[in-house]
Amino acid sequence: MIDESKYRRFDENFSLAGKTAIVTGASNGIGEAIAQMFIRKGANLAGFDMNPSPVLADYAKEHGVSYLEIIGDITVTDDIKRTVSSVIEKFGKIDILVNCAGIGILETLEEYTEKVWDKTLAVNLTGGTRMALAVGETMKQNGGGSIVNIASQAGIVALERHLAYGTAKAGVIQMTKQLTLEWAQYGIRVNAISPAVIMTDMGRMNWENEKGEAFKKLIPARRFGYPEEVAAACVFLASDASQLINGANLVLDGGFTIS
Ligand SMILES: NC(=O)c1ccc[n+]([C@@H]2O[C@H](COP(=O)([O-])OP(=O)(O)OC[C@H]3O[C@@H](n4cnc5c(N)ncnc54)[C@H](O)[C@@H]3O)[C@@H](O)[C@H]2O)c1
Repeated sequence: MIDESKYRRFDENFSLAGKTAIVTGASNGIGEAIAQMFIRKGANLAGFDMNPSPVLADYAKEHGVSYLEIIGDITVTDDIKRTVSSVIEKFGKIDILVNCAGIGILETLEEYTEKVWDKTLAVNLTGGTRMALAVGETMKQNGGGSIVNIASQAGIVALERHLAYGTAKAGVIQMTKQLTLEWAQYGIRVNAISPAVIMTDMGRMNWENEKGEAFKKLIPARRFGYPEEVAAACVFLASDASQLINGANLVLDGGFTIS
């Protein structure tokens, strides 16, 4: 017999109305696009970032949802604890977490520095894992939730100069599966999104050059991506429409990693 009790009817336009979301790295690039699309979909939003957002407070106001700005560093455990307690205090629950805060410093093996390795792992993997663990505990008490981890195509295939970044993102994909295994029974869904090069400050810094033009020729779709395309995938994974998707890694790479 199929257990129908766990299935929820869902909005076909992927509404997030009435849900509370935390987006880390919300003050720039992909995180900002995710935060804005979540706001347009009706979610109340907590933006977590080291820097203040120039746009989100006004944007939330215009769209009639609540917004909480939290300035913090994802590598600092006290900042994570403060985030969870202030979001619960303001909104009473957390339905969605998007782990988007990240850094992308590329080095050849010859250029390898301990500093870049340690920082890359601390921000991209350890910070996101600790945020997920802290938020997940509240989701457990609340009957479930959706966590989306922004990984990368560099966590699936090896790319030159990506030792630290690729290793961290591969870790994010595995972390996603580990949390799913233990938390799916509580209604907590954990999924990853692995984008290719996306045109943000980080994407432009690393790929707006000859290497980037050569790279595009290897992508079946022959182009890089835009932050809104990642946001759209994120809305789907955050919404109840994806409620049977657990531990997946949704790849947005124009086909780059198929071969
Ligand atoms: N842009 C790309 O080509 C691309 C491709 C695949 C995956 N990604 C991933 O997407 C995510 C967002 O990338 P982006 O291109 O928007 O980058 P970005 O540099 O434009 O924005 C990153 C945001 O994270 C914040 N941040 C950085 N370190 C932080 C810390 N320690 N604590 C709190 N906030 C911190 C920054 O202040 C910034 O607002 C990252 O995880 C990145 O690895 C990016």
